[in-house]
Amino acid sequence: MRAVELKGPGIESLALVERPVPEPGPGEVVLRMRAASLNYRDLTTIRGVRPGVRYPAVPLSDGCGEVVAAGAGVSRVSVGDRVAPSFFPEWISGPPPPEAKDRALGSPLDGCLQEYLRIGEQGVTRAPEHLSDEEVASLPCAALTAWRALVVEGGARPGERVLVQGTGGVSIFALQFAKLLGCEVVLTSSSDEKLERGAELGADHRINYRSDPDWPARVREATGGRGVEHALDVGGAGSLRRCLECTAPGGHVGVIGVLGGAEEPIPIRLLMYNNVRLTGITVGSRSDFEQMCRAIELHRLRPQISHVFAFDDYLQALELMQRGGHFGKICIRFGP
Ligand SMILES: NC(=O)c1ccc[n+]([C@@H]2O[C@H](COP(=O)([O-])OP(=O)(O)OC[C@H]3O[C@@H](n4cnc5c(N)ncnc54)[C@H](OP(=O)(O)O)[C@@H]3O)[C@@H](O)[C@H]2O)c1
Repeated sequence: MRAVELKGPGIESLALVERPVPEPGPGEVVLRMRAASLNYRDLTTIRGVRPGVRYPAVPLSDGCGEVVAAGAGVSRVSVGDRVAPSFFPEWISGPPPPEAKDRALGSPLDGCLQEYLRIGEQGVTRAPEHLSDEEVASLPCAALTAWRALVVEGGARPGERVLVQGTGGVSIFALQFAKLLGCEVVLTSSSDEKLERGAELGADHRINYRSDPDWPARVREATGGRGVEHALDVGGAGSLRRCLECTAPGGHVGVIGVLGGAEEPIPIRLLMYNNVRLTGITVGSRSDFEQMCRAIELHRLRPQISHVFAFDDYLQALELMQRGGHFGKICIRFGP
């Protein structure tokens, strides 16, 4: 089978190789991959800026595949089922097990940029039927992260206000889930054109964070001076403090991303006086994923797929993500 291996740090260290098709052991299944999707994390893995990458590594945490072989004792899924692998295949429910960060797909475990993936049966979930293979592949990391920050940890309710930063994978799912819940959304982006696309998805207020660096003041204005009950911070350094500046008393901030860097002094008084809750988010459990998929199916929600590339064009897909040319998700299709 064909697989893409990362042989060392740097995008130039990726190579297409041949590997044997894996056989399932007891309790395992083998998936024939139909699609995969990219997350910013995959770029940091490939650049070698995340600790714990073991070479050679098969990148990409997210995909959609068909069960083509099942080992002894497998009972959760059957051959022929279309499934999505979990980002953390061994995190079933509750808080993350301590070893979860060392057991994620796309590094340290081999990921989805290969034609067949071997995985424990506990680490897969049947795909929502109304979605295409690419749409299913967009869910495991980005959608679940947004869902967990907003719904599981944030407990968002209709009428509440939500700050969504940027128009990448996590953020556009956050926008879609917030609208599904009946929330009011403030969307930021560096691009007016992308803000217009956000309006089509229901973003109630739109702020260009590049042309208007005092965006927290604009968020406050948009919310009548009160601020938002929910903020999903993907910026990290240079951003988390500013999210706190526009979060309403009693609000919740999901600490998700490090696009601007990973170190940021916390303004303790702001946090304390406003009784704001900060929750560190690392994707979510299989049980969260199943709950999210039920909501997606019930509401016939369609993920925003920005671009689809053929398997052989994986480098073009990564380059597009590097330059931020996308709105929503970038996917890779394995078949014709
Ligand atoms: N903790 C977790 O479980 C988890 C899960 C998934 C992702 N993440 C993290 O969340 C972040 C986003 O991931 P993603 O896969 O959604 O990325 P992505 O699809 O590449 O989206 C990135 C977008 O964010 C906006 N952006 C860029 N720099 C920014 C900054 N400094 N402040 C605010 N917005 C900025 C840009 O949108 P515009 O072009 O509209 O300006 C950019 O296109 C990454 O740091 C990633 O590692 C964390």
